[in-house]
Amino acid sequence: EFVVRLAKRGVEFVVPSDKAIIDVLREAGIEVQTSCEQGVCGTCVTPVLEGEPEHHDLFLSDEERDSGLMTLCVSRSRSKLLVLDI
Ligand code: FES
Repeated sequence: EFVVRLAKRGVEFVVPSDKAIIDVLREAGIEVQTSCEQGVCGTCVTPVLEGEPEHHDLFLSDEERDSGLMTLCVSRSRSKLLVLDI
């Protein structure tokens, strides 16, 4: 599990190993735009401010990953804390 912090809202949530980031955010009542929810469409791409994402999508290029973007539907975190710019 890891913690996801939403920088603009000033809140954080634990993401357990059996849940996606979008599931946890939705359960908390936070609206996240998604479409495919399989890591292919790019609708849920979000900027990361801190932490190391563990990418599981098929959408982002290496350059986009290096620039600090991740998908919230399938990707997770290598670091204990992931800070998102939302
Ligand atoms: Fe399609 Fe996340 S919803 S990539």
